[in-house]
Amino acid sequence: MNEALDPEWGTATRGVRSGEHRTPYGEHSNPIYMTSSFMFDSAEACAARFAGEDPGNIYSRFTNPTVDAFCERLAAMEGGESCVATASGMSAILATCLATLETGDHIVAAHTLFGSTIGFFNNYLSKLGIQTSYVSPEDIDAWKAAIQPNTRMLFVETPSNPLTEIVDMAALAVIANENDALFVVDNCFCTPALQRPLDFGAHVVTHSATKYLDGQGRALGGAVVGDKDIVGDRVFRFLRSCGPTMSPFNAWIFHKSLETLELRMRAHCQSAMQLAQWLESQPGVERVHYPGLKSHPQHELAARQQPGGFGGIISLRVAGGRAGAFKFINATKMISITANLGDTRTTIVHPASTTHVRISAEDRARAGIEEGLVRISVGLENLDDITTDLWRGLASV
Ligand SMILES: Cc1ncc(COP(=O)(O)O)c(C=O)c1O
Repeated sequence: MNEALDPEWGTATRGVRSGEHRTPYGEHSNPIYMTSSFMFDSAEACAARFAGEDPGNIYSRFTNPTVDAFCERLAAMEGGESCVATASGMSAILATCLATLETGDHIVAAHTLFGSTIGFFNNYLSKLGIQTSYVSPEDIDAWKAAIQPNTRMLFVETPSNPLTEIVDMAALAVIANENDALFVVDNCFCTPALQRPLDFGAHVVTHSATKYLDGQGRALGGAVVGDKDIVGDRVFRFLRSCGPTMSPFNAWIFHKSLETLELRMRAHCQSAMQLAQWLESQPGVERVHYPGLKSHPQHELAARQQPGGFGGIISLRVAGGRAGAFKFINATKMISITANLGDTRTTIVHPASTTHVRISAEDRARAGIEEGLVRISVGLENLDDITTDLWRGLASV
């Protein structure tokens, strides 16, 4: 028996119950189909499948039942018609852009994006004649002013990495629709447990599944969610031909992890909120960026767009610039110094020298990624233990 998606189900139930396809063995947990290809009883049957006359699997670069189960579950959670899975978050962005843009097209993007996304736009899409203009994410007039006749995509993260700036998705959806542009939201920081961009008018959602969707720092993966035409057809056909697809083993990990996503996100949010409030009052901390704080310039907008919570990422500027930030990071003992985020373990990193090192110093300064900025991804350890470790770090600044 397979669970059919009940449209009344909430996000947590969708994460647990959708995308289940039992075999005649009646297994309770979804199986892994670790196979590169699928076989046929005859050459005629094989030819019919290749000709599209008989639906089904051919080769795991095209489709695979474990990967499909993950896609079905994530699409149900995001409220999207179609989902495709990719080898990493970057390949989700690559597939979305190459499947939908043409030479001569133009992108308008928020200036605080993950460093590799900016690198991909500036170093690789530009070689194909696709140029990108960057604007301040919260300045709607700047978005309007940056639109050109050939603008075909608006691209944002909200909250942004690492400054947690919030983009007004409903306002950007209007601009995108008026200009025949695709509105793409990287929903990596929130996941559908906290925010569903398609509900606010986004056309496409991308994910780095490597982050909260896995939630345990084990596997690389990505996903693209949207409608049947753009995602189910165009992005799917790009992946089928070009190859950056998800492995069935990783899909099985992500499929299981979605069952606890809502619960984990709630815990990440609760601890992050308390830590952000505590950090704001600590000597040596010059500024805390967290959408849940009243001091966050877009706190009200975040509350509207993120009904599930304010997220698990905090960035703070410590006194003493880069030296102060390095001292702070080095004095922590339990927290992991690593560039990944969305893990059970609290992680800490200096964005200017790591995740955002490949963008120019001027672009970093324009985006507000200062030398004293430190990003913390709040994990699921006891809050007291995280606080003690951060206190140890701050005492050294
Ligand atoms: C917001 C955001 N988008 C995309 C990516 C890329 O994901 P991946 O490392 O899975 O390729 C990252 C990675 O840190 C990220 O933070």
